[in-house]
Amino acid sequence: MEKEGWLRKGYVDEPVEKGADLKNEIRRLCKEKNAVILGHFYQADEIQEIADFVGDSLALAQWAAKTNADIIVMCGVHFMGETAKILCPEKKVLIPDLNAGCSLADSCPADKFVEFVKEHPDHTVISYVNTSAAVKAVTDIVVTSTNAKQIVDSLPADEKIIFGPDRNLGNYINSVTGRDMLLWNGACHVHEKFSVERIIELKRQYPDAAVLVHPECKSAVARLADKVASTAGLLKYAVASDKKDFIVATESGILFEMRRKCPDKNFIPAPPEDSTCACNECNFMRLNTLEKLYNTLKYEWPEVQVDENIAKDAIKPIRRMLEISEKLGL
Ligand code: 13P
Ligand code: SF4
Repeated sequence: MEKEGWLRKGYVDEPVEKGADLKNEIRRLCKEKNAVILGHFYQADEIQEIADFVGDSLALAQWAAKTNADIIVMCGVHFMGETAKILCPEKKVLIPDLNAGCSLADSCPADKFVEFVKEHPDHTVISYVNTSAAVKAVTDIVVTSTNAKQIVDSLPADEKIIFGPDRNLGNYINSVTGRDMLLWNGACHVHEKFSVERIIELKRQYPDAAVLVHPECKSAVARLADKVASTAGLLKYAVASDKKDFIVATESGILFEMRRKCPDKNFIPAPPEDSTCACNECNFMRLNTLEKLYNTLKYEWPEVQVDENIAKDAIKPIRRMLEISEKLGL
């Protein structure tokens, strides 16, 4: 074991035995260690295939909160692992690659956000789940894109609200709730890359297609949408729709589950602007691979850790989100 090398790299850098059936080995290790694999819709296809549960950010938190497993392997990004660890401090929470961060969470450094909150002491603080544990620790209610509108709607109309860190989601929630929340100026580098021009080009090729847009996209892109929703919301819309073609403006990993659920429908990934790539992938999400997943289970490393003092404050707004979501049937 070259622990020093692993520490430097942030993942277990051990060669996998030649010819090993990784999927079988992963399932065997899960059984042996009573581990559960939770995967986000933006993970590579082979990870979604092997995961016990695949879902959006809200579902991942809900599953983490109720699992009986001793080990949770979070196939997603770091803040998702932190949320699971905060909810289950007694469990071991593993992530295949510690470098799987999030540009949106990084656009909201905790020290700056604390200052911002202090400048507006009469405001309720709502934070998107895509934030560090330290940001959640100064938050009143955490939301995801699945429940943000309903949670904001559940607050009194005259309540002053700070919403962070995603300015696009914040603008969208302001527009659908008629609020005037004070927004933190953060964004996701993947969703900001979708362009109006390239979606219009695709619409010319597929005139009957429905345009599905994640609310982390810019408002000009959201205005082209037939449906703006979280990954789970877009999936639900595609399943229920009688359309055949769908242009999908979110991370292209979601297409795996869309195609699995709707094999007769045609899902076209919206490309990022200024790129020859057809799909828009999150480089952080894609750091997790089947090999790293196998190694993280085998060596039970790297573990997601959250400072106890931060966790004790961060759990309150996460629990509030889960309680409100349960009441709302989400
Ligand atoms: P949802 O799965 O909650 O829609 O989140 C999208 C996202 O960007 C996760 O990082
Ligand atoms: Fe973060 Fe954007 Fe990647 Fe989601 S897609 S994990 S918001 S960087």
